[in-house]
Amino acid sequence: MTAWTPESWQAKTVAQSVRYPDPAALARVLTEMRQLPPLVTSWEVEGLRTQLAAAARGEAFVLQGGDCAESFDDCRSESISAKLKILMQMSLVLVHGTRRPVVRIGRIAGQYAKPRSADLETKDGVSLPSYRGDSVNREPFTEEDRTPDPTLLLRGYERAALTLNFVRALADGGFADLHHPEYWDISFAHGARHVDEYHRIVDQIREGISFVTAVTGIDATPLKRVDFYTSHEALALPYDAAQTRTVPRRPGWYNLSTHMPWIGMRTAAVDGGHVEYHRGIENPLGVKIGPAMTREWLTELLAVLDPAHKPGRITLIHRMGAGKVETYLPALVEAVRATGRTVLWMCDPMHGNTETTPQGVKTRRFDKILSEIEDSFRLHRQLGGHLGGVHFEMTGEDVTECIGGARGLAEIDLERAYKSRVDPRLNYEQALELALLVARHLRRPA
Ligand code: PEP
Ligand code: CO
Repeated sequence: MTAWTPESWQAKTVAQSVRYPDPAALARVLTEMRQLPPLVTSWEVEGLRTQLAAAARGEAFVLQGGDCAESFDDCRSESISAKLKILMQMSLVLVHGTRRPVVRIGRIAGQYAKPRSADLETKDGVSLPSYRGDSVNREPFTEEDRTPDPTLLLRGYERAALTLNFVRALADGGFADLHHPEYWDISFAHGARHVDEYHRIVDQIREGISFVTAVTGIDATPLKRVDFYTSHEALALPYDAAQTRTVPRRPGWYNLSTHMPWIGMRTAAVDGGHVEYHRGIENPLGVKIGPAMTREWLTELLAVLDPAHKPGRITLIHRMGAGKVETYLPALVEAVRATGRTVLWMCDPMHGNTETTPQGVKTRRFDKILSEIEDSFRLHRQLGGHLGGVHFEMTGEDVTECIGGARGLAEIDLERAYKSRVDPRLNYEQALELALLVARHLRRPA
């Protein structure tokens, strides 16, 4: 293997790469980005790695979730606080279910670039570059909007900073303080099937805290401060490489634009640019794996990405599709075991379950999402391990993008509030319901 640098990926084949018409303009933007302060710190990144190592050992559970693609327009107070709120509420339910710490990771503050299956989109005989996320180009179908614009990388970095600044302020300012009931209120979901169960859980947790406070005289202050981590698919390598730095008094290079970058399924070639980039950074890495992943491929990926068998380094996020976990997972679990590593296994029940309605609308069915999670819990147990986390595409708002759930959303409802520009997300109620159903699983003895 040749020497690694933050730019050594450029010598490799880069899948999903973007062709900028003005390379000098791209270079100017990247120079500016390299000089801006980082979004996260190396000690936070190391803190997350330690927690992921605990989850890999079965001592914590991970909840990762957020938009398929964040949009610049959604960088607004209500949208960000709604996302944080639903993640907090889900994690509370999961803490109750698992009796273990829950590590919260948002697909947030940088999830602006998307892989596409086709480079071009054709409408009425006109072909233009596909929309690849707000940090690459713009969605309207005009040549100007679809031409990749490097200044959007900078806009993305700034939006990520604004988002993270607000998230940190909310998290530090008592957003997750259980003594502030308004943060835990789910009046929005009034009348939905699981509201009572949720309230019971919140009440039990509050009673538990009051009891501990009364007996020990110690206020449960740590609960007021929440750890919240960020993640995004490190797809736009110029963006991630521009934020890849060394830090004083710690060896190695860190991607300081996010805590946990992940490698998407379309960019996981062992000899490709994305794997080259990720092998050289210290951050914990997510790797998406689908039905096409083989034992040999996975074994090679682990050898390249984690030569030192570092605890917490690798999270394998499987996204097989409902009914397929049993077919594809066992060989991969065995392959990892044969390398002697303990990785964190997570289930993304979204990306293997996308379908298109006869009207041409992309959707996902709640039942299939749940079924893939249930199969994953069962299979990992049968194989003598455990599922250590779940990965959702979701939003804190009342959108209608996925079918099913307690309110029985149907195909006909999709047009009411379909906002995602890329993949369909669970809405607020569907997300909370899934957390409650997952928590029930976790309560069962292994
Ligand atoms: C995604 O997470 O939005 C995504 C594109 O996933 P995958 O790489 O698993 O298809
Ligand atoms: Co997606």
